[in-house]
Amino acid sequence: CGIVGYVGQQNCKEILLRGLEKLEYRGYDSAGIALLNEAGVHIFKEKGRIAQLREAVDTTVDAPVGIGHTRWATHGIPSRVNAHPHQSASGRFTLVHNGVIENYTLLYNEYLQGISLQSDTDTEVVVQLIDKLVQEGAAAEEAFRNVLSLLKGSYAIALLDAEDPEVIYVAKNKSPLLVGLGDGFNVVASDAMAMLQVTSQYVELMDQETVILTENSIQIKDAAGHLIERAPYEALLDASDIEKGTYEHYMLKEIDEQPPVIRKIIQEYSNDKNELEIDSDIRQALLDVDRIYIIAAGTSYNAGLIGKEFIEKIARVHTEVFVASEFSYNMPLLSQKPLFIFISQSGETADSRAVLVQVKELGYKTLTITNVPGSTLSREADYTLLLHAGPEIAVASTKAYTAQMAVLAILAVDLARAKGSSVPFDVTQELGLVANAMETLCNEKEEMEQIAEEYLSVSRNCFFIGRAVDYYVCLEGSLKLKEISYIQAEGFAGGELKHGTIALIENRTPIIALTTQQHVNLGIRGNVQEVIARGANACIISMEGLEQINDRLVLPHVLDLFTPFVSVVPLQLIAYYAARQRGCDIDKPRNLAKSVTVE
Ligand code: G6P
Repeated sequence: CGIVGYVGQQNCKEILLRGLEKLEYRGYDSAGIALLNEAGVHIFKEKGRIAQLREAVDTTVDAPVGIGHTRWATHGIPSRVNAHPHQSASGRFTLVHNGVIENYTLLYNEYLQGISLQSDTDTEVVVQLIDKLVQEGAAAEEAFRNVLSLLKGSYAIALLDAEDPEVIYVAKNKSPLLVGLGDGFNVVASDAMAMLQVTSQYVELMDQETVILTENSIQIKDAAGHLIERAPYEALLDASDIEKGTYEHYMLKEIDEQPPVIRKIIQEYSNDKNELEIDSDIRQALLDVDRIYIIAAGTSYNAGLIGKEFIEKIARVHTEVFVASEFSYNMPLLSQKPLFIFISQSGETADSRAVLVQVKELGYKTLTITNVPGSTLSREADYTLLLHAGPEIAVASTKAYTAQMAVLAILAVDLARAKGSSVPFDVTQELGLVANAMETLCNEKEEMEQIAEEYLSVSRNCFFIGRAVDYYVCLEGSLKLKEISYIQAEGFAGGELKHGTIALIENRTPIIALTTQQHVNLGIRGNVQEVIARGANACIISMEGLEQINDRLVLPHVLDLFTPFVSVVPLQLIAYYAARQRGCDIDKPRNLAKSVTVE
């Protein structure tokens, strides 16, 4: 979910709606705003997207104060009733919340018996409880603070008090929240992109802090109520980075941005001698470990699998990769001196953060690789390496994946050198060649569009097969396809398919086979024959040098280890066109959110 708030002098309705549009990547099941003026609070909410909310908003209502929310449902189905803002029974308090209040049932049973709730959300309990404490005699701020002290879980909250219409109360714990500073107004938002339209000056908030915003002041307090001074920073986001330009979808724009992102990473990580390197403190920390544990979710997990290849093959350090949500509940036996790398585009994924908190408690060193400076995972880890990919807006990740691999490759090469091992290739040059090869493929879009049409136009499922590193890319290719086209897709290790899943192969079942590695080229081609013999419609994508006569697509040659950068591009494009041909909502697929800030 994402939240916004504005307190100032102008009519804020449009600012809130535009802010929510920028936060839609965080969830888009339902949305709402509350506007506060002399006449009182006006709440508008709707199931569905911000576009639907826009239609529901009364254009005649003007207000200088307001809050808004876009939701990714956790407690309670997506519906108008469960949409935020939620209001207390008396109508005095109105609140939006991102996060999960774990003890909401307990709180209801202990304090709110007899009060009937309107929604099925965990959030409504918070606003009802604040109202109750106020009715029992507490001042609004005191009630807010007291209720916060009772909450277990995560929250970013903005609260309006109809009896004090010049103020927004704000609080944060484990969910991201920023305060934005303006001239004659102040704002609050889940991320800076949302309010870039009105300000680039932001103040970070820490867990358990509260803020009282008025048009001319912000008052940050810690959990004990002590005032905190904190200087603002300038958000270095270019508003044009978050626009689609001439593209029909952000996803296509972001696929095309991959070659320039790789070049930008080369630039950002180059030292005076034009060698790629990472920060020396990080190098030192890495030198001191016996095993690296990579923790991530979704696409970032898939990038982690390639990262393991790089680190083990180039730097020869044992590396294991774990799905974050599994690791936290089923921790493996750890080595003597582990270091944890968290890979996360957003730097906000709650599953990954839960592991970070756990391993920090155990005293282990942590490094976050993220696209978002100042994100929670970046702030809380000992070290950060940035992706420099620019904002990624489409829910299905593309440029962050290839950027994550590039940063992991640089880390692996740096670590190898620091250990005194020789690296048999020039990483700057090889990554440069990778960028060129990706560009070549981005210029062959019609070809990918045709492949999508030819293989996927009528199918309900699709299998991606590969061996060695190609298998890992198949996992990402299949994730892309299912995320945005809803075709059931699975990535399989070529040799494993015959041990069960081959039962699913029917006449014309599409199989996309990747072959970029000499040592498995014949093996995977054998697996393709096995499925063709059972009726499959096979599309072979091979690397230059390994190609055979009937291959559907031949990829420009790059270093063996770096083929994932190149082989993933056609898979991203095939997924894109398959989804487009089906008329799917490519940038905002159903049920998903880009940044999942709940466990
Ligand atoms: C969500 C998104 C995925 C993403 C995953 C991890 O589930 O829908 O696209 O890969 O989170 O996100 P992160 O920001 O941690 O890389």
